[in-house]
Amino acid sequence: MDHQVKLQSSGKQFIVRDDETILDAALRQGIVLPYSCRTGSCGTCKARIVSGSVDHGDYEADALSEQERQDGMALLCQSRAESDLEVDARELLAAEEIQIRMLPCRVVRLERLAHDVMGVHLKLPQNQSFNFLPGQYIDILLRDGRRRSFSIANPPGEHAILELHIRRVPDGHFTSHVFESMKEGDLLRFQGPLGTFFLRDDARRPLLLMAGGTGMAPIKAIIEGAFREAARLPMHLFWGVRARRDLYMADELEAWRRSHDNFQYTVALSEPAAEDAWDGRRGWVHEALLERYPDLEDYDVYASGPPPMIDAARAAFSRHGLPADQLFYDSFEFAADVPRR
Ligand SMILES: Cc1cc2nc3c(=O)[nH]c(=O)nc-3n(C[C@H](O)[C@H](O)[C@H](O)COP(=O)(O)OP(=O)(O)OC[C@H]3O[C@@H](n4cnc5c(N)ncnc54)[C@H](O)[C@@H]3O)c2cc1C
Ligand code: FES
Repeated sequence: MDHQVKLQSSGKQFIVRDDETILDAALRQGIVLPYSCRTGSCGTCKARIVSGSVDHGDYEADALSEQERQDGMALLCQSRAESDLEVDARELLAAEEIQIRMLPCRVVRLERLAHDVMGVHLKLPQNQSFNFLPGQYIDILLRDGRRRSFSIANPPGEHAILELHIRRVPDGHFTSHVFESMKEGDLLRFQGPLGTFFLRDDARRPLLLMAGGTGMAPIKAIIEGAFREAARLPMHLFWGVRARRDLYMADELEAWRRSHDNFQYTVALSEPAAEDAWDGRRGWVHEALLERYPDLEDYDVYASGPPPMIDAARAAFSRHGLPADQLFYDSFEFAADVPRR
């Protein structure tokens, strides 16, 4: 049976079918609500059910606590409507015009960026338009029906090329294929653009950007997109990797710093090797950020990378005065077809 959902803030309404989640229904009808992983892991899609009842579905306890659930919160990427609903969720109008599509693409370039990071360039079909916001991601659709999420590392408009930075996961099904047998010329299918990790169009506060490893991919797209805009918000990027050999974009960061006086960056190595002769910042990247900016009240923070980094940063940033609605993040959760933690 279909149910009607009304958004409390705008009064906008949409229909949810029995076989879809509330988030999928909203996206299908061109209404974009905040989301990232779509697997019930990251908590980005959390919203308050003002009236009506939902089936909460399957999710990780870290993403929605029992207390939050009792307080009427739900994860819209997992919840299904059991009645008509009123929901308190913030619409993202900037992405409203953007259509999520399934498209074929061709691998046109494979470039080893670091020992465990592959740069993969995908060429889109010439007769198809594909619009996205810098920071969004795509799902590569595998032949067996599984999907794998990767952020687009460039802003739109560059010769219909999508650039991905793919880190090899030990024994990972798809990422092993990328490193061992993918070839230039291969055809892939993907769905996208997905996610709401993009610069908000009303951004006015100075930006702190934080990346862990290949979390650099969407952050790179956001920064390059911002360089093109007239608004010149101050930006400070913090990039955390293990050792010097993981710094696959060091030259590019230095070039950005030289050519944009509103941009600066700090690198933190968590496990520098002896031969690195590293005299820069050591330790966790979110701690490097907090050391420099102990009071976060007047900043917008964009963070992307491994789930443990995002979890630690969310808790610590909140203690340092960052309001929840000034933190935007993409947590690189793994796909739901593997057992959850
Ligand atoms: C929104 C989003 C954007 C992403 N963007 C990027 C990106 O730009 N670049 C990038 O390198 N990755 C990105 N990821 C992570 C990426 O999707 C996974 O690393 C990938 O799906 C692994 O696929 P696989 O088939 O090789 O591994 P699987 O075969 O799915 O995994 C094998 C095992 O490795 C572990 N594992 C897998 N992935 C991870 C992980 N991310 N963290 C910790 N353990 C893991 C699991 O325990 C699993 O059992 C993103 C994830 C999300 C949700
Ligand atoms: S928990 Fe719903 S989008 Fe991540």
